[in-house]
Amino acid sequence: MKLHFILVYFFVCIALVIASCSHYELYKHEKKVSKNGEDESHNNGMNCMNCHLSGGKGEGWFNLAGSVYKANKISQNPDGKIHLYTSPNGQGSLKYSIDVDGKGNFYTTEPIDFDGGLYPVHENNKGVKKYMASPIVSGQCQSCHNATTDNIWND
Ligand code: HEC
Ligand code: HEC
Repeated sequence: MKLHFILVYFFVCIALVIASCSHYELYKHEKKVSKNGEDESHNNGMNCMNCHLSGGKGEGWFNLAGSVYKANKISQNPDGKIHLYTSPNGQGSLKYSIDVDGKGNFYTTEPIDFDGGLYPVHENNKGVKKYMASPIVSGQCQSCHNATTDNIWND
């Protein structure tokens, strides 16, 4: 009788381990891309990839994510766009465009090829653009912004 319970316990444990692994698989393959007007995101200004990365707890493993602010660097700057160009000041070719959501956050689980570096541009919801002068090779915008440099801001 005792052995019976131990066996049941054993199989329940195995089932739990398998369930939690496939849970992570789900997150891994879950496609999440920010869209204007959406309000699913959170944690403005934090490095999203502290959690939304391989093995992390956040739903969706992001390849590029961050937050944008108004000129006061405190208020969220909703519903604009992030563009990534091959040259500074919006020159070269436009490789990617990602919507900023209604909370001023942007994120994507889609693959981004940083080979050769990409120049980020923020376009606010009135079409005003701000250009980052140097290229990036990582999509963790908040690893610098709000950390080693100011938050990304625009009018
Ligand atoms: C401290 C860890 C942590 C950080 C930092 C974090 N997230 Fe999350 N995120 C989570 C967890 C855990 C979930 C799943 C549970 C939940 O919705 O709270 C989640 C869920 C989400 C979802 C999905 C919500 C849904 O309903 O599908 C989005 C979108 C999201 N996060 C965006 C972001 C963005 C953008 C950033 C950075 C500005 C960020 N997160 C920073 C932990 C984090
Ligand atoms: C390696 C550090 C680093 C990373 C990663 C980084 N930035 Fe920047 N960013 C800076 C610095 C430093 C400046 C100011 C000098 C400059 O423009 O090069 C800046 C300036 C900017 C500006 C122009 C000024 C402003 O605040 O409006 C924008 C827009 C911008 N970054 C967007 C982004 C976006 C979007 C990402 C992620 C896709 C990103 N940055 C990733 C360091 C970084």
